[in-house]
Amino acid sequence: MTEILHGAEGVARGVELLRAGGLVAFGTETVYGLGADATNGEAVARIFAAKGRPSFNPLICHVADAATAWRYVEPNTLAQKLAARFWPGPLTMVLPCRPGAGVSSLAAAGLPTLAVRVPAHPGALALLRALGGPVAAPSANRSGRVSPTSAAHVLADLDGRIDAVLDSGPCWVGVESTVLDLTTGTPVLLRPGGASVEALEEVVGPISRATDTSDAPASPGMLLSHYAPALPVRLNATFVQPDEALLAFGPPLPGAALVFQLSARGDLTEAAARLFEGLHVLDVPGVVRVAVMPLPETGLGLAINDRLRRAAAALPPPPVL
Ligand code: TXA
Ligand code: MG
Repeated sequence: MTEILHGAEGVARGVELLRAGGLVAFGTETVYGLGADATNGEAVARIFAAKGRPSFNPLICHVADAATAWRYVEPNTLAQKLAARFWPGPLTMVLPCRPGAGVSSLAAAGLPTLAVRVPAHPGALALLRALGGPVAAPSANRSGRVSPTSAAHVLADLDGRIDAVLDSGPCWVGVESTVLDLTTGTPVLLRPGGASVEALEEVVGPISRATDTSDAPASPGMLLSHYAPALPVRLNATFVQPDEALLAFGPPLPGAALVFQLSARGDLTEAAARLFEGLHVLDVPGVVRVAVMPLPETGLGLAINDRLRRAAAALPPPPVL
C-alpha cells in the first residue's frame, strides 16, 4: 500500500525508500512529482510502469541547488544567470549531460541532454538535500490524466502503485515548470509554464518559441526523434545475421557479432532501464544493423516497443549512388 508521509520524519522515510529504488511522490510549487532516484535505471523504469506511459519521454531531474545540478549537466553563461535569478523555482533548463555523471540513460530517454530543475517547495528541497542526488520526477498522475496539485489527487490516481506520497500541502503555482532549451545559441521555449517568458527574457534576451517555425518540434516529447541510433534496427528478430548486433531479451539467439542483454531473466523493468544504454553500446564500427528479439506488448513492453519502433522508422535515407 502507498504510505502517506508528513514532516521531517516523512522526509527521512522518503529518502530511505528512494535509496531502495522505490517511488515517492512529493509536492513541488508547480505540481506533485512522482520521484525516483535518477541514477537507478530500474527505479526510473518503475515511474513509467506506475504512470502507464505507453512511451518514454525524457524526465526532469530535480536537485537541491545549482551546484548539484552542475554535477550532472554542463552550464553555460546563460544557464548560470538563469539559475541565480530563477532557482529555486518553476524553471527547467535543458543542457548537455555530463557523460559518466551517473544519471540513468532512461531518465533522459537516451538523449545527450538532460533537463534539470531546483524546485522551490521546502518539502521537496528537504527531500532533495537529504538524498544529496538527482530525483527524476514527471507529474504524479496516470498517463493522460490531469497533473495533481495535492496529495489527495496523487492518491486518487496512484494509490497502491507507488510506495509513498510526501504530503506537502497544496502546490501554489499549479502549472508545470517552464522548460527552456539552452543547448543552442538562442534559448528555445519547449514548454510554457510557471516562469513567464517575459521575466526570462529580461535575463537572457529574446527566446524563440518552439512553435515559431514549421520545423520546430510541436511538443518537447517530439524531440525524441532527435535521438535515433545511427544503425538500422530490425524488430522481432528470430535469427541473427553475422554482421548484426543483437539486443537480447531472455536467452540470446546465436550468431551475433555483438550481444547486449536487456534482461536475461526476461524482466521488462530491467529491460527498460537498460534499453538506451544498449542502443549506444551496440552502435560500433563493423556492425551494420541491430536485431531486436521480440518483447511482450504488456506493461513496460509497450513503451520499449514504441521506442524501438521509432528507432526502426527513423532510418537515415539510403545513400544516393
Ligand atoms: O513542474 C514540473 O516541471 C513538474 C514537477 C514535478 O517538477 N514535472 C514535470 O515533468 O512536468 P514531466 O516529465 O511531466 O515533463 C517534463 C518535460 C516534458 O515536456 C519533456 O519532454 C521535457 O520536460 N524534457 C525533459 N527532458 C528533456 C530533454 N532532455 N530535452 C527536451 N525536453 C525535455
Ligand atoms: Mg505531466
